[in-house]
Amino acid sequence: MLRLTCLAVGLLLGGINGQITQFNRIDCYPQPGANQQTCQSRGCIWDSNFDSSHPTVPLCYLPTGTGYTGANGAPGTYILTKKAGSFVNPYGADSGHVIVSSQLIGKTLNVRFVDQSFTNRYEPPIGIPKNPSTSSSNDVLQFNPVNVGNQNLFSFTVTRASKGPNFWDTSIGGLIFSDKYIQIATLLPSQSIYGFGEAIHPSIKHDFSRYTTWAMFARDEAPDSASALDTKNLYGVHPFYICVESDGKAHGVFILNSNAQEVTTGMAPHLIYRTIGGMLDLYFFPGPTPEEVVNQYLALIGTPMLPAYWSLGFQLCRWGYQSLQDIQAAVGRTQAAGIPLDVVFSDIDYMNHDEDFTTGSAFAGLSQYVDQLHAQGLHVTLIFDPAIEVDYDTFQRGLNTGARFIEWPASYPVPSTNSLYPMTANTKIMLGAVWPDRHTAFPDFLDENITQGESSSATDKWWAGEFTLYHSKIAFDGIWIDMNEPSNFGTNQASTGHEGIAPLACPLTGSNNALDSPPFQTQAVYLFGNGNYLSTKTLCMLGKTGGGKYNFYDTKSLYGWSEARATQKALNTATGKRGVVISRSTFPSAGRYTGHWLGDNTARWEDLRTSVIGAMEFNFFGIPYVGSDICGFIGSPTEELCLRWQQMGAFHPFSRNHNIAGTPPQDPAMWPSVAAAAKKALLFRYHYLPHLYSLHYDATLYGHTVLRPLFFEFPSDSATLTLDKQFLWGSAFLITPVLTQGANSVDGYFPSGVNNDEVWYSIYDFNYAQATPPGPNQLPAPVTSMIPVHVRGGYILPRQAPATTTTAAKTNPFELLVAIKGVRGAGTAQGQLYWDDGEASPSAVDGTYNYYKWNFAYSETPMGAQLTLQRVNTVNGMSVPTLDIIELFGYKFSPSFQSFALDGNPLTLDMSSSFYNASVNQAYIKATNLIDLTKLNSGTPSVLSWRHTLM
Ligand code: GLC
Repeated sequence: MLRLTCLAVGLLLGGINGQITQFNRIDCYPQPGANQQTCQSRGCIWDSNFDSSHPTVPLCYLPTGTGYTGANGAPGTYILTKKAGSFVNPYGADSGHVIVSSQLIGKTLNVRFVDQSFTNRYEPPIGIPKNPSTSSSNDVLQFNPVNVGNQNLFSFTVTRASKGPNFWDTSIGGLIFSDKYIQIATLLPSQSIYGFGEAIHPSIKHDFSRYTTWAMFARDEAPDSASALDTKNLYGVHPFYICVESDGKAHGVFILNSNAQEVTTGMAPHLIYRTIGGMLDLYFFPGPTPEEVVNQYLALIGTPMLPAYWSLGFQLCRWGYQSLQDIQAAVGRTQAAGIPLDVVFSDIDYMNHDEDFTTGSAFAGLSQYVDQLHAQGLHVTLIFDPAIEVDYDTFQRGLNTGARFIEWPASYPVPSTNSLYPMTANTKIMLGAVWPDRHTAFPDFLDENITQGESSSATDKWWAGEFTLYHSKIAFDGIWIDMNEPSNFGTNQASTGHEGIAPLACPLTGSNNALDSPPFQTQAVYLFGNGNYLSTKTLCMLGKTGGGKYNFYDTKSLYGWSEARATQKALNTATGKRGVVISRSTFPSAGRYTGHWLGDNTARWEDLRTSVIGAMEFNFFGIPYVGSDICGFIGSPTEELCLRWQQMGAFHPFSRNHNIAGTPPQDPAMWPSVAAAAKKALLFRYHYLPHLYSLHYDATLYGHTVLRPLFFEFPSDSATLTLDKQFLWGSAFLITPVLTQGANSVDGYFPSGVNNDEVWYSIYDFNYAQATPPGPNQLPAPVTSMIPVHVRGGYILPRQAPATTTTAAKTNPFELLVAIKGVRGAGTAQGQLYWDDGEASPSAVDGTYNYYKWNFAYSETPMGAQLTLQRVNTVNGMSVPTLDIIELFGYKFSPSFQSFALDGNPLTLDMSSSFYNASVNQAYIKATNLIDLTKLNSGTPSVLSWRHTLM
C-alpha cells in the first residue's frame, strides 16, 4: 500500500503552490455575475486585464492554497481535513473530512471521495456490472497521493506503474467538497481529449485553445450545430472521456455521478469537474489503445444490447402523417423506387389524442397494415412517451397494480390540479403536461419495490403489461421511447401551450426550495439565461423517485436509463423476441437496453457533419446502435443535402429518415436523384450487413465499438487525432462521406500504419479492388456514385447479396471479401462471422449463435493459397446459408480454378462467373453451394486450398 508522503517542493504549474497564469486558472465564479466586487468578496482573485485574444480566460480565479490536508486512514484510505484558513466555499459548508480510497477492478482503477460528515451520500442506483477489466499491457495503474508544498495540501496523481505521463495530477488545486458543490481539478497529459456528452461537439477532439464548459444534465434540447460553438447539454449524460497521450497510448476516465454536473476544459491543459450532489466516484482505464479503453469502460458499465437483425435495415419515419394512408403512400413510393426498407415507424400521430397504448381513428387500419408489412418481411416500430394522461384505463391499471409515479414529498402541499382528476385526487403524484391534452403522470421506473418471487417492480410489471395488451391489438416489433429526460411542457411558466391546463410550478423560493434553487446550478441552467431553473422543461427537483427513496434532483438524468431498462423488458415480454428499443435520453450503461438517435437536428449541412461526430461518440459511450435523423428533423432539406445524408446515414447502425410535423415529405423517393442514391447506398449497406451484425456481436460480447474514428486504429499517427469526417466500421471498413454542398469529390486520409504496410482497397464505384495511395487523397464522389468506401488489407469481411429487405437478404448465400495485406510471399487476411436467427430473445450472451473464423494465407513454395475456415460455435438445427463466393483483392497470382479443394476433396467452380483480373489483382471464385458452413470442422479448421502461378 502506498503511504502518504509530503512533498515540500513547489510544483511547476500553478495551483496549490506554483504560479497561476492565464492558462491554468480555476474559475472562482463559475456562475454569471463575476465582477471585481463579487469576486473579491468571496475571497477570489480578480484580474482586470481582460485579454481579448483569450476572451474565455476566467477573470475571477481561485487563489492557491485551497483544499485539504491528507493523513493516512485505515489501510488503503486517506482522511482529508479541510485546510484551516483556506478558501471558504461560497456554495455551502465544506465537509470537514473526506475519505479517499482506491481499488483496482481488474485493470481499472477506482478512486472514491466520500464525505464523512454527510452520511448516506447519494450514488446512482444503476447496478452496473463492474466486471474486472483486462488489458493487452501488463502495466498496472497506481494511485499516488501526496501532501504538497509549504501548505501541505493533498493532491494525487494516477500513473502507470511504468510511469509515463500522469493521467491525472490534481496538484493544480481547487478541491472542494460540500453537500451541493463538489469540485475537483486536474492537469491533463495531452490535449487529445475525446468524449463527454451529450452535446454537439464541432470537432471530435476537444479544443484546449480556450476555456469551455460543458454541462451534463439530461434536457429536452434540440442540438444547434449552426453556431460556431454550442455547449448546451442535450438529452443524455455521459461523464466519460478518452485521452490519447503524446506517444499514442490512450487512457480513459469515467465519473459516475448523475447529479447536474459540468466540466470545464482549460488551457494548461486541465479540466475542472463540478457536480452539485452525490460524490466523486472516479474510474481510470489504462488502455493502452483507445479501443481497449472502451472495452474496459464497458466491462465496468455493461456491454450493449444486440439489436435485432432487421433493425440494421433502413427505417422510414416522420411526425405528421395525417392518416394511415400517408404511411402507406410513403412506404409504397419507397418500395416502388426499389429502395431497401425494413422498418416502418409511426410517431405520436397514430395515437388517440397522443395517449400511449391507444389508436386514433385515422389509423384504424394500423393493425391489418402491420400484419401486411410483416407478410412482406418488414417490421414496425411505434413511439411511446413516458408521460401518461391521468384519466384513462392505462393509468387506472397502474394505480390498481401498485405502479409508482414521480411524487411530491409527503410533507409538501399537493397542488389543486390533482383534485381535477378522480384518479389523482387523493394522491401525491406530481402532474405535468406533455403531448396529451390533459395532465400527465410520470412512471417511476426507479421503483425498487419488488414483491418476493417477482423479478420486476410493480411499475415495470404494469409497464410491460400495457405493452403486452397493446401488442395483442397491434403487433409492433420495436419500441421508440422519447421525451424521457423527462420532458415536461411549461414548468414554472404562465402558459404551457396547453391552453386551459395549469402548468407545473416548482418551489423556487421559500422554505421548500433547497433542491429547486441550490446555491450553484451549473451551466445547465446559467447557459439558458434568466428565468431558467434546474426544473425548466422538466419536473420539480424535490420530486420523489425510487418509490420515495430518492430525490428527482439526484435521479433526473437517470430517467431515460430507467425507462429504457423497463422498456426492453416490456418489449421482450410483449413480443417474445429481442426487437430493439431506441431512446432519446441515455446515461452510462443505457446501451445494455437501448440504442439512440441524435435527437431533433435540423436539415443543414452543419448537422450532417456533427452527426458523424455524434455517432462515433455514442460508440465511446457504449451505445453503438446510433444514428441521426437522416435529411434533418427540423426544416426542409435541399435535394442535395438529403441525398448526401441518405448516403452517409446508410453507414450508421441506426439508419432512419425522420422529419418534423408540418414540413413537406422528405423520404428518399420524393426526388428521383435521392431515390437513386439511397437505393445504391442501401443496397451496398445490405451487402455488408453480415459484417455489421458481427461487429454488433463483438460489441455485445466484448464491449467493442462498432463505429470508430481513425485514431482508434492508428493512435500513433498524429494526423488521425483530429480526423472526424471519416469513420470506420470496426477495424477494416472505412467510410469517407461527402459532407459539403456542391462537392464532386471528397478528401480522405488513408493511414499507412506504423510499419508503413497498410493497404486500403476501394470497394465503391471508382478504382474497385485497387489500392488507394496512403496519406491524404482526393477521391471522386459525384452524386451519382456511392460515397467512397475502402476495405483495409489484412481483413476478411462476410457479406451476402443484398435484397430490399433484410428478411430476404438474410437467406442469400454468404460471400467472403478477402482483402490481402502483405508483400509477395507473405500475404494474409483474417476475419469472422457471427450468425443467428436475428431476433431470438434474449440475445447474444446465451450462446445461441454460430461463430466462424477465417484465415487466408498464400505461399510461393509450394505455389498455393489456403483459406482456413473454422466453425467455433454452432447451434444445431439453425439454418445457415452456404458460402458461395470468395473475392480476393491484392492477389498477385493466377489461380488454377481446377485445383480448388476443401480438405483435399476437389470442388467444381462455376466458370461462367469465376475469374481473375490481373490488372487489378482481383480473383472471384464462385460455385453454388461451394461450402456448407454447418459441416465445417470445429476443432482443426477446414482448409480450402488451391494452386496458383505467379503473375
Ligand atoms: C420529439 C422527438 C421527435 C418526435 C417528436 C414527436 O421532438 O425528438 O423525434 O418526432 O417529439 O413525437
